[in-house]
Amino acid sequence: MDYTTDPTRDKYVIDGGACLRGRVHASGAKNSCLKLMAASVMAEGPCRIRNVPDIADVGIMCEVLSRIGLGVEFEGGVLDMMPASEPRLETPYHLVQKMRAAVDVLGAMLARYGHARVAMPGGDNIGARQIDMHLKGLTQMGARLGVSHGYIEGSADRLVGAHVSLEFASVGATENLLIAACLAEGRTVIENVAKEPEIVDLAAFLSGMGARIEGAGTSTLVVEGVDTLSGVEHTVIGDRIEAGTFLLAGAVTRGEVTVTGIDAGHLEIVLDKMREAGCTVDVSGDSVATAVRGELHGVEISTLPYPGFPTDLQPQMITLLATVGDTSFVTENIFDNRFMVVDELNRLGADIRTKGHHAIVRGVPALSGAPVTAMDLRAGAALVLAGLVAEGTTEVYDIEHIDRGYERFEEKLASLGAGIRRVPAGEPRE
Ligand code: UD1
Repeated sequence: MDYTTDPTRDKYVIDGGACLRGRVHASGAKNSCLKLMAASVMAEGPCRIRNVPDIADVGIMCEVLSRIGLGVEFEGGVLDMMPASEPRLETPYHLVQKMRAAVDVLGAMLARYGHARVAMPGGDNIGARQIDMHLKGLTQMGARLGVSHGYIEGSADRLVGAHVSLEFASVGATENLLIAACLAEGRTVIENVAKEPEIVDLAAFLSGMGARIEGAGTSTLVVEGVDTLSGVEHTVIGDRIEAGTFLLAGAVTRGEVTVTGIDAGHLEIVLDKMREAGCTVDVSGDSVATAVRGELHGVEISTLPYPGFPTDLQPQMITLLATVGDTSFVTENIFDNRFMVVDELNRLGADIRTKGHHAIVRGVPALSGAPVTAMDLRAGAALVLAGLVAEGTTEVYDIEHIDRGYERFEEKLASLGAGIRRVPAGEPRE
C-alpha cells in the first residue's frame, strides 16, 4: 500500500491529459475580502459582506476578528460582523504567522481605538516582506510605534491627517494607511499608492461606511477624516487571480474554458499576453472565454504593480509557457523568491533557467508526471496546472497552501473535466 509522504496532510493526485472544457464561476476576491474584514474593525454598526470565498485565509481572518472581540458569522458566502463590545486589541503571532494579511488590522485598531499590539510578520516562502512603509506612514499620522519582543506596539490619541509618499506602490501599505486615514483628524494625502482593483473595492466599502475618499484606482488617495464610521453591506468583486488561474488551466490543456463573475478589465494585461501567445480570448459581460485553436508561442512577461502583469499569476503563466513551442522571457519584479516553483516544474520535465529575477523558459513538447511539493499558494496552483497537462500521474503535496486561496479548487477543475482528486491525509492510495 502506498501512503502520502506526510500522512497528516492532504494531497492532490492528478491524471494528466484531459482537455478542460466548460464554464466555471469565479469566487469573491480573497485579497479584497481580507482587507474589508480588517476595515470592519472600525465600524460602529454591523457589517455584512457577500460573495465571500470559503477559503482558509478567510477562516484565519475570522479568528483574528473574533479575538479582537467582533461577533463573526460566516455562512453560505455571507459574512456578518458585529462590533466588539470589549475589544482586545491584540493579534498574536500564531495568526500573523499563518497569514501576513492579519497585519492589516493594525491601522484599523489604531484609528478606532488608539491602541494596537500586532505580532511582527516574518519572512515567508515568496521572500522577505517588510512592513516598513506601513509603519512609517502610520508614524507620520501621529501613531507612536515601537517593536519589542516580536510585537508592534502602537498608540495614538487620535491619528492626524498627513502627507505620505510611498517609496513603492505596496498593496498592503496602501490599504493599512487608507483604512487608518478614514478616522484620522483632517486630510490625508497618500501618494504613489497601489491601484489594484482590490484597493478600489476597499475604498468603496469604506465609503459605504461613511468615509470620504477620492482617487481610488489612481496613484494618489485623498481622505478627509470623519469622526465615526457606520456598518455597511457590500458585495466583494470577483477574484481576478482565481479567474486567471482557470483561464490559464484551459490554455495549458489546450481546452476551452469560460470564467463568469469577473470584470475582464481587471485581467487586461493577462488576456493581452494570452492573445499574444496565440490563445483566443473573448470577453462578454462578466465572462471571459479562452480557447486554443493553433500553435502557441513564447512571450515576454514582466510582473509589475497593477495594471502591470500580476505577480500572483506569474507561476501559472510560466507553466503555460513551459509547454509552448519556443522561448519565453519572464522577469519577476515584486517578490524575491517567486521562482521557487521553477525547480518543481523542471522535475516535471520543464526547461526553465533562472538568474536573479529573470527566467528563460524553453518550451518542451511534453511534461511528465511526478510527485511535487507546493511551496506557496500560487506555486501550488501552477503545479496543479502542470499536472493537468503532464503525461501520467502527478501528486501535489502540501496542498494546504492552495486551500488558503482557492475555494473548492479540485471540484471546480473536475467540473471542467480535469482528472484531479484530493486524497485525504493518511488515506491509502488506490
Ligand atoms: C499583496 C497581495 C499578494 C500580492 C501582492 C502584490 C494580499 C493579501 N496579498 O501582498 O497576493 O502578490 O500584494 O500584488 O493582498 N514592501 C516593502 N515594505 C513595505 C511593504 C512592502 O519593502 O512596507 C515590499 C515587499 O517586501 C514586496 C513588495 O513590496 O517585495 C510588494 O509588497 P506588497 O505590494 O505590500 O504586497 P502585499 O500587500 O504583502
